[in-house]
Amino acid sequence: MSEIGQDIQKASALLKQGQLVAIPTETVYGLAANALDTKAVVKIFEAKNRPFFDPLIIHVASVEDIELYCKNIPEIAYQLAAKFSPGPLTMLLDKKDVVPDLVTSGLPQVAVRIPKHELTLKLLKTVGLPLAAPSANPFGYISPTNVTHVEQQLGKKIQYILDGGNCEIGVESTIVGFEGDSIIVHRIGGLAIEELETFGKKVELRINHSSNPQAPGQLKSHYAPRKPLFVGDIDELIKQHSGKKISVLSFYNTYSVYTKQLSSKKDLHEAAHNLFSYLRELDASDTEIILAEKFPNTFLGRAINDRLERAATK
Ligand code: TXA
Ligand code: MG
Repeated sequence: MSEIGQDIQKASALLKQGQLVAIPTETVYGLAANALDTKAVVKIFEAKNRPFFDPLIIHVASVEDIELYCKNIPEIAYQLAAKFSPGPLTMLLDKKDVVPDLVTSGLPQVAVRIPKHELTLKLLKTVGLPLAAPSANPFGYISPTNVTHVEQQLGKKIQYILDGGNCEIGVESTIVGFEGDSIIVHRIGGLAIEELETFGKKVELRINHSSNPQAPGQLKSHYAPRKPLFVGDIDELIKQHSGKKISVLSFYNTYSVYTKQLSSKKDLHEAAHNLFSYLRELDASDTEIILAEKFPNTFLGRAINDRLERAATK
């Protein structure tokens, strides 16, 4: 069992000693270690059972901190950060030598973001180190959005869980890279494409749906419950699976079987906020099969569809 609390000094001391601490962010909880300490970073991969080819995001408190760990930062990155950070935006930037190759799985660029969570920003300022942190779940499973989720699965492997309540956004950050004056989106997440487009630059989606290990996190199967999950037309799917105990994850509709509505008031933000938590609840229930609706492919609906597609039984 790990200790759960809001003690920044304690979390900071553990991180400086090379231990793991789970941290809250506005997207999902992260499993953090000192990004500059290779031995500490190894513990992250071990605790999650994560393959070493899947690179980690580093979390920092400010744009000045980004400059400590990244070089050749394009002007457009500064502009994006000014508009969307702290927030659910992760940028791929050329790494400086201080960032261990283990963090980036040997890639020349490092993923960096400034999380929008008061406790974690305080921790980052106190500890004065970049924190490498993937989502705090066993590799391939649903990401955690509260401390109970973290404790249930990784409690035995973490010294301390910093309790920051329920994650406001509920899906992971949007990952972008830069090519000339274009923004390349590598993972659809909490920062909507439509918001990125208001920025006035060309936005190109380059979402990987293969099992190409060059772009993990984008692995085709990810974010998955243990129960079979099918996405599509619910009435059709109910017919196909008749005889089984079925539960449905819907946007706002109700069906002839047990249904969890992600947002009865049809709000995509609320739906994203509830997504992983409801998915876990159904996974832990006595249902045999989970069915999920396809969401409108706009704003956070795109991130929800992306996660459901990857979580679905292939
Ligand atoms: O919202 C989030 O981003 C959360 C919170 C904790 O910050 N973190 C998160 O980390 O989702 P993780 O490890 O579950 O996903 C990180 C993904 C990798 O799987 C990979 O696809 C991409 O980020 N990534 C990281 N470093 C990269 C790099 N150098 N080049 C390309 N992709 C990278
Ligand atoms: Mg993850």
